[in-house]
Amino acid sequence: MKITEKLKNKLGPLGDHAHYAHGYYTYPRLEGEISNKMIFNGKEKLVWSLNNYLGLANHPEVRKADAEGAAKYGMAYPMGARMMSGNTKLHEEFEAKVADYVKKEDAFLMNYGYQGMVSIIDSIVDRHDVIVYDSESHACIIDGMRLHIGKRFVFKHNDIEDCRKQLERAEKIVKETGGAILVITEGVFGMRGDQGKLKEIAELKKQFEFTLLVDDAHGIGCMGPTGAGTGEEQGVQNEIDLYFGTFAKSFAGIGGFVASTKDVIMFLKYNMRSQIYAKALPMPMVYGALKRLELMRSHPEYREKLWQITRALQNGLKNAGFDIGVTNSPVTPVYLNGGIPEATALVSDLRENHNVFCSMVVYPVVPKGMIILRLIPTAVHTLDDVERTIDVFKIIRKNLTEGKYSPQAVQN
Ligand SMILES: Cc1ncc(COP(=O)(O)O)c(C=O)c1O
Repeated sequence: MKITEKLKNKLGPLGDHAHYAHGYYTYPRLEGEISNKMIFNGKEKLVWSLNNYLGLANHPEVRKADAEGAAKYGMAYPMGARMMSGNTKLHEEFEAKVADYVKKEDAFLMNYGYQGMVSIIDSIVDRHDVIVYDSESHACIIDGMRLHIGKRFVFKHNDIEDCRKQLERAEKIVKETGGAILVITEGVFGMRGDQGKLKEIAELKKQFEFTLLVDDAHGIGCMGPTGAGTGEEQGVQNEIDLYFGTFAKSFAGIGGFVASTKDVIMFLKYNMRSQIYAKALPMPMVYGALKRLELMRSHPEYREKLWQITRALQNGLKNAGFDIGVTNSPVTPVYLNGGIPEATALVSDLRENHNVFCSMVVYPVVPKGMIILRLIPTAVHTLDDVERTIDVFKIIRKNLTEGKYSPQAVQN
């Protein structure tokens, strides 16, 4: 059978849902200005699905900088990879400024967070080294490890005792191979919203020798007194050896960066394949990222507003008896019980009858019988949005408990 034939009938665990989900639950088209309210299927919805934490996506100064960057340089500039012909003063200026923001000596820009993380992992370990990582690591971490031909040990999510055990195993191996240990975790876990236990992991450095790489995709801009991330929040930014941030969330752009010591960044500049063998991040993105960074640093009130909305939403949901799990970041999961048919009926009711748009997560991403409605508060939401959403959530919970979303009820 040809591969192209085989693919037609085998869409994979997520694609198996495409026949009913595509274009509505998956690949929905959100239209209009990026804000707390957007258009879906021709009607305005209150949107809780965007990682636009600080509200920068549609900030007038950001829009102006993006337009200026595109007008001044075009999307083609610079031509080529950084190493050969694609380096610019602006790329270097951004790297110096973002390194200063996250309190590291130097930084390196990346075209995408995902590819960047894969490539960081790939470049810094060899077959003698061992990776120890959190079991709920993002796909980019998992895919980075797929390229690693040495050993890897997973520890149970945020379980420091298990992390210690895996470090003991890793230590035995590197004693034989002469390699070193890399520990990878996240600043904020994007699904449950709990912070990685960076402080406790950093403590383990007293007992074990390892390098700590932290993916702070959801933490940069949101966490810590200056928004410098989850390491700052937990007072252990110095203990993070390689700090990774993406532009896909707070920065409301595309691309990312890794920050570390000058030596490590120099190594990455000459070994990170996703940057050496790929065209540089386009100039308008860098020009726009500089503006975003400036706004992030000079307007702490955006972060304060994000947290005001976060607290109102999370306290409101908890007071109304909802289970929001162990989040200690803006990411707000609401855990409900039900199968995929209930989840789809419930989300459709939310969207069509209550005009609230949020993302749902069901099996196989979470265990069977669990529905997660994932809400992302931002600085452009209002307290009215929060109040309305909690009222609507009470209605859908009641419907769910009364069986109104069961396949039989929906059919009638
Ligand atoms: C934890 C985490 N790491 C990495 C990425 C990938 O970043 P990007 O979207 O910039 O490729 C994401 C998603 O955006 C993420 O949630």
